[in-house]
Amino acid sequence: MITVTNLHHSFFVGKRSNRQEVPVLQDVNLTVDKGEIVAVIGRSGSGKSTLLNLLSGYIKPTQGEVFIDGTNVTNFSEAEWADFRLDHLGFIFQSFQLIPSMTAFENVELPLMMKGLGEKERKQKVMEMFEKVDLHGLEGNYPSELSGGQQQRVSIARALIVNPPIIFADEPTGSLDTETETELLGFIKYLNEVENITFVIITHDEEVASIANRTIRLENGSIIEKDGALV
Ligand SMILES: Nc1ncnc2c1ncn2[C@@H]1O[C@H](COP(=O)(O)OP(=O)(O)O)[C@@H](O)[C@H]1O
Ligand SMILES: [Mg+2]
Repeated sequence: MITVTNLHHSFFVGKRSNRQEVPVLQDVNLTVDKGEIVAVIGRSGSGKSTLLNLLSGYIKPTQGEVFIDGTNVTNFSEAEWADFRLDHLGFIFQSFQLIPSMTAFENVELPLMMKGLGEKERKQKVMEMFEKVDLHGLEGNYPSELSGGQQQRVSIARALIVNPPIIFADEPTGSLDTETETELLGFIKYLNEVENITFVIITHDEEVASIANRTIRLENGSIIEKDGALV
């Protein structure tokens, strides 16, 4: 589902006269199979978010190639990435990243608007999705009128609405209490087992790593461990 070969990434900081290279990822090789949950762990600053941003086209690698769902996406333009993400990738973040001025309904509807679906079809899909994430009746609430767990479910609804084969999550449980976290992990397991969605989840959290089929550890921008397979 995802193949990464010889991936290197550097950021360049400072003014042109004093531009400095900051190497962040070195020679990352990685395969994620369809239907896997892969946890990416590692200290703060080890390059986890950079890796996810490279896999989602938000930044371009300095070197190396990325294949997703059979497509070489390495040299995609921004427009190609935008289309590709809409069809293939869902995102879940620690801070939910909902748009505060839009209702829960409108947040979930947004990807369908971007795909150009008509109003009737959008409404039907969004209402079904609110049932699925167990938020029926809260469609008209703004994010500020929802609990953290509910906001996370809205963000999952937004990720799922276009049926992506892959979901990327960056510290998805970082803002949740233990009970809500257990619920979220149960839902991720369900989506993985029943709907065969592939997950790549960045986490600090042992609980999250415990639902993964595989754990990858990043240290100073290199993969130092590719297993630790947990059931
Ligand atoms: N846009 C950027 N410009 C310069 N350096 C960056 C940028 N983004 C991240 N970094 C640096 O890259 C390293 C890895 O960051 P990041 O991928 O966010 O790590 P993690 O998610 O594991 O905490 C850090 O040293 C960070 O300071
Ligand atoms: Mg990070």
